[in-house]
Amino acid sequence: MKSLYYILFFAIFSSVYFFVVCQNIPSPRRQQTSTLVGTRLYVFGGDISPTLPSNEVWYLDLSSSFNISTPPWHSDVAMPIGYTFGTSCLSPIDNSTVFLIGGRTWIIANTISFSYTSSVYKFDSKTSQWTTPTISNFNSSFEARN
Ligand SMILES: *[C@@H]1O[C@H](CO)[C@@H](O)[C@H](O)[C@H]1NC(C)=O
Repeated sequence: MKSLYYILFFAIFSSVYFFVVCQNIPSPRRQQTSTLVGTRLYVFGGDISPTLPSNEVWYLDLSSSFNISTPPWHSDVAMPIGYTFGTSCLSPIDNSTVFLIGGRTWIIANTISFSYTSSVYKFDSKTSQWTTPTISNFNSSFEARN
C-alpha cells in the first residue's frame, strides 16, 4: 500500500514538474508565416535553428493585454508538414479558414528533406483541422515557391 502512495506522489510530482518545464514558449525561428484570425495571431511553421523546419502552430490571443516579456503563447494542432518560406492568408468568406500557399513543405521523418507535397494547405481555425483542399480550376502551372 505504501508503494502505491509513492507511485501516486511520483506521478503527481512529475506531472507538475513536466508542466513547469514544458511551458508554451516557441523556439526562435525564421521563415515562418503568420495570419491574424479574429483576435488570434497565428504563426505557422518556420525554421528552428540551425535547420529544422517546424510543423508547429502557435497563436497569441490579443483580446486581452499581457506582459510582452511573457507572451501567453498557445500551441494548436500541428501541420501535417514542416513549413517554411510560404505565405498564409485568411479567407474573407468565413474569416476563420487560413490558406497556406507556396513555400517549402517538409516531410518530417528520419531524414528531413523538402518537397512540394501540395501547393495549398487549408487550416480550419475553428476545428483546428488541416486538409489539402481540392480546388476546381486550379492552375496546375502554379509551382510552389519561396
Ligand atoms: C513583465 O515580466 C517581467 C519578467 O517576468 C517582469 O520583470 C516585469 O516586472 C513585468 N512587467 C509588468 C508590467 O508586470
